[in-house]
Amino acid sequence: MPVITTIDDLKRIHKRRAPKMFYDYAESGSWTEQTFRENTSDFDQIRLRQRVAVDMSDRTTKSQMIGQDVAMPVALAPVGLTGMQCADGEIKAARAAEKFGVPFTLSTMSICSIEDVAENTKNPFWFQLYVMRDEEFVDNIIARAKNAGCSALVLTLDLQILGQRHKDLKNGLTAPPKLTIPTMVNLSTKWRWGLGMLGTKRRTFGNIVGHAKNVGDTRKLSSWTAEQFEPKLDWGMIAKLKEKWGGKLILKGILDVEDAQKAVQIGADAIIVSNHGGRQLDGALSAIRMLPSIIAAVGDQVEVHMDSGIRSGQDVLKALALGAKGVYIGRSYIYGLGAMGELGVTKSLEVIHKELDLTMALCGRRDVTTLDREVLLIPQDFEGKWQP
Ligand code: GLV
Repeated sequence: MPVITTIDDLKRIHKRRAPKMFYDYAESGSWTEQTFRENTSDFDQIRLRQRVAVDMSDRTTKSQMIGQDVAMPVALAPVGLTGMQCADGEIKAARAAEKFGVPFTLSTMSICSIEDVAENTKNPFWFQLYVMRDEEFVDNIIARAKNAGCSALVLTLDLQILGQRHKDLKNGLTAPPKLTIPTMVNLSTKWRWGLGMLGTKRRTFGNIVGHAKNVGDTRKLSSWTAEQFEPKLDWGMIAKLKEKWGGKLILKGILDVEDAQKAVQIGADAIIVSNHGGRQLDGALSAIRMLPSIIAAVGDQVEVHMDSGIRSGQDVLKALALGAKGVYIGRSYIYGLGAMGELGVTKSLEVIHKELDLTMALCGRRDVTTLDREVLLIPQDFEGKWQP
């Protein structure tokens, strides 16, 4: 068993063990990948204040997200095709999250279905919805999420049309993989992954195959989005969906103050400041750079969460200190899953938790819920002067 001390360690093993097309799918941004890169490099610009001779005993990372107790305010983000990184991946990730005491969010574009995850876990999880053109499908999936006891609906707003990721086109991404010669050559070196896949029936989009109509190639994410996702989604439709769901609603993909204000008017319980991990609008600002202005505008009216770029506990601390009440990790746990299944997801949570706890102590703090900008050193031009 290799000694894992960082998320990067898990990433290296993930790259070795998972088929190239799925590793590349996770590790891509859209077009030039500028936003994807800046999501992480902008975190590096913020520095921390070292404080000494303060009581560092009895520390806690416990907090709440949308009123739910969490062992640390770090949820697992919805990630498409998770069950292709490792057999039954969503079930494994949900179990790791449940044992750790953090929320798990299941993607509409998952391999394991809502029902699969519910049957194999005890605690309620969150369900992420992509709005489809087929209203009956949407009503039905909302009802399925309610029946499964999901405790929040995470409505994604920034992917009604798919941003182009060059690698997915070049690799011919499908779930399950289409057996072309390059893919077969690559799969022949991934025996651990292959054995897992032989042992499961869950190998395509479990939430939608058999539930949605009129799709050309049901194995392709690009066909689903182009043929099914509703490009007309607007605030009026969001308000109706909120009513249909009737429970806690989190709006994901907010990167603009005006949109954050609209989310408040709709009555969202939380918003996620996010650019979809740099996978959608390439050229958009990083989520961490947008966070302060969104917090300043609506932070006292709605719970503000963030994702996109978190690869360490130090990153978590920076986002919380800027005012986020919670963050989400996507790639950081997918690396763990692709590396070593449920154990790897647990490992990624442990790595991040330990980094968060120790970093907080070295900043002279004992409680994540009291973190504020006082622990940070922020360059004066961090947010930048951008003109519309
Ligand atoms: C889907 O959520 C994707 O970013 O591919």
